[in-house]
Amino acid sequence: MDHFQFKNGVLHVEDVPLAAIAEAVGTPVYVYSRATLIRHARVFRDGLSALDNPHIAFAVKANPNLAVLKVLGDEGFGADVVSGGELTRALAAGMRAAEVVFSGVGKTHAELIQGIEAGIGQFNLESEEEGYELSVIAHGLGRRVPSALRVNPDVDARTHEKISTGKRENKFGVPLDRAAEIYAALAVLPGLEMRGVAVHIGSQLTELEPLETAFGKVGALIEELRARGCTVTHADLGGGLGVPYRKNEETPTPAEYGAMVARATQGWNVQLMFEPGRVIAGNAGVLLTRVVRTKRSGNGPPFVVVDAAMNDLMRPAMYGAWHDFDAVAPSGERMTAHIVGPICETGDTFAMDREIDALATGDLAVFRTAGAYGATMASSYNSRGFVPEVLVDGDRFAVVADRIDPQAIMDAERVPEWL
Ligand code: LLP
Repeated sequence: MDHFQFKNGVLHVEDVPLAAIAEAVGTPVYVYSRATLIRHARVFRDGLSALDNPHIAFAVKANPNLAVLKVLGDEGFGADVVSGGELTRALAAGMRAAEVVFSGVGKTHAELIQGIEAGIGQFNLESEEEGYELSVIAHGLGRRVPSALRVNPDVDARTHEKISTGKRENKFGVPLDRAAEIYAALAVLPGLEMRGVAVHIGSQLTELEPLETAFGKVGALIEELRARGCTVTHADLGGGLGVPYRKNEETPTPAEYGAMVARATQGWNVQLMFEPGRVIAGNAGVLLTRVVRTKRSGNGPPFVVVDAAMNDLMRPAMYGAWHDFDAVAPSGERMTAHIVGPICETGDTFAMDREIDALATGDLAVFRTAGAYGATMASSYNSRGFVPEVLVDGDRFAVVADRIDPQAIMDAERVPEWL
């Protein structure tokens, strides 16, 4: 359930009609619902209620907006970060360093130092090499840092290949068959407090079975580690739970996910950690856009050209992803159309041959399920600016990220004097 509903025939976010936001802020614009974020956070937490004291860290990459992080921090969520920039944001939003988990295959020397100095809760090490480097730095600073080893369980997550992370050939984690040996080697280093294992096999998972298979392998690893005398007090099960992108699409619920986790992790005797992103933020946001014009070309359906483009919402161009598209004030009539942006490449296509609400020049429409991996993946391609973001709370709203005009981007460029 979300708070993007039609009232008197016009689409509202909570109690705010989207037309009011378009008028105040212009289009395109990302619009998030605070009530939906809170609801999703609570439904996720409730789904894990059978577990003893789970740690939930929002995957900041899904939506790093400071206001969104503040809402989730206030709900008791920590942060899963993958860069120094995300760590800075999480702390700026008031999240506690101790609640931060730092993942990522390419943490730089400077980022490792930043994490140590901030006093983050856990480093998820993605390689033996990273563990040695972190230990040297931490030891040099007189610290021992809580760390987990991310394993690659070689499980097919059955999702889009570009967002699958748990196959042997993917760059993430250490191979399962070497994990115990690597963990034992890292556990004796002076700068590390090896305390757990981590796994994340991919994103937008629409079945639980691959996760359960991966967790089974992690459980066996924990046993093996303990048999070797290693200490294991934490297990980070990552994120990945999919969301419905189409009306009536069924995806596993947090309650079903939680029940599976409880079953799969029985007897582990660890604190479980989670890194959900999309399931919290995805359906808490839309990208509001205006029709620039419609045009015909050849005999096929018309093109509906909107003012949002692939640089603003990259997912359709990058993954062939589907986003539901609805008029803000539908007339009841329908049409079949191609929905495209203004960018000069054919990849700037949101949908082909889609049956949609009839739309004409100047009409407003939304791409749904744009609260995760939307604004954060934007670029300024074609010298377009960055889309602003708005947060709605009941009948009020605020701009939580300004539109960045092409001029501001240009102002950061320099032509050297020798040209
Ligand atoms: N933990 C780790 C280590 C991750 O790599 C990710 C996502 C998450 C947690 C959060 O996963 P989620 O719960 O959101 O599925 N840009 C792509 C998604 C990339 C996901 C990358 N990692 C998209 O738009 O579909």
